[in-house]
Amino acid sequence: MSDDRLIVALDVPNVLDGLALATKLGDAVNFYKIGLGMLTGGGMALANELKADHGKRIFMDMKFFDIGATVEAAVRGMAQFDLDLLTVHGDPHVVTAAKQGAAGSNMKIMAVTILTSLDRDDLDASCIKAGNITDLVQERAGLAFRAGADGVIASPQEAALIRALPEAVGKLIVTPGVRPAGAALGDQKRVATPAQAIADGVDHIVVGRPIWQAADPRAAALAITAEMASV
Ligand code: C5P
Repeated sequence: MSDDRLIVALDVPNVLDGLALATKLGDAVNFYKIGLGMLTGGGMALANELKADHGKRIFMDMKFFDIGATVEAAVRGMAQFDLDLLTVHGDPHVVTAAKQGAAGSNMKIMAVTILTSLDRDDLDASCIKAGNITDLVQERAGLAFRAGADGVIASPQEAALIRALPEAVGKLIVTPGVRPAGAALGDQKRVATPAQAIADGVDHIVVGRPIWQAADPRAAALAITAEMASV
């Protein structure tokens, strides 16, 4: 019944709420994303419980960035658990170190290109080189792939451009900012529908609030799955 192309972001306040939501969703959802907010409140225990007791797949959205040795050690620690996806920032030295840390496990390293919350003024303030953000995202995606990333996180607007890169063959593209037609946007500005994202070559969509804030989260998840199946 579930479709692994849907990843539900468990951005709920605590582990108990996370487990309650996963129980409510049942076999409608097979893949969950745990972020930094949840990590500090027991996110690893939640990941392990969802994996071991419920048979779910897990995407740890940690966005690691540090010197290579530290990234490698952190990723090696994560790789002891049976996790599916892990994010790091897409800088080549970070990706290379993360791949070394993940060696011997099935955990895939996903690179963040440029945070979608940043605009050109933010990049200027951080001394990031000139150029329009879309071009820089495409360039950083290519660099991350060449450094060995198994995939990238991209906004729906960037997905098709990244999919067109020769380096993207066989790589994963995972996209947040997905909203079923008519759903509230929240703070997401550049959104696509589930069907559009899949048509653009996305492998997994990450959906949070349209599911966990829904009156009937299970029905909301099933509607998204049905929409993806229609592509
Ligand atoms: O509730 P919503 O569907 O907007 O949740 C999307 C999830 O994807 C959240 O966990 C959010 O932090 C994450 N995310 C995002 N945009 C990015 C990267 C991650 O919305 N560029």
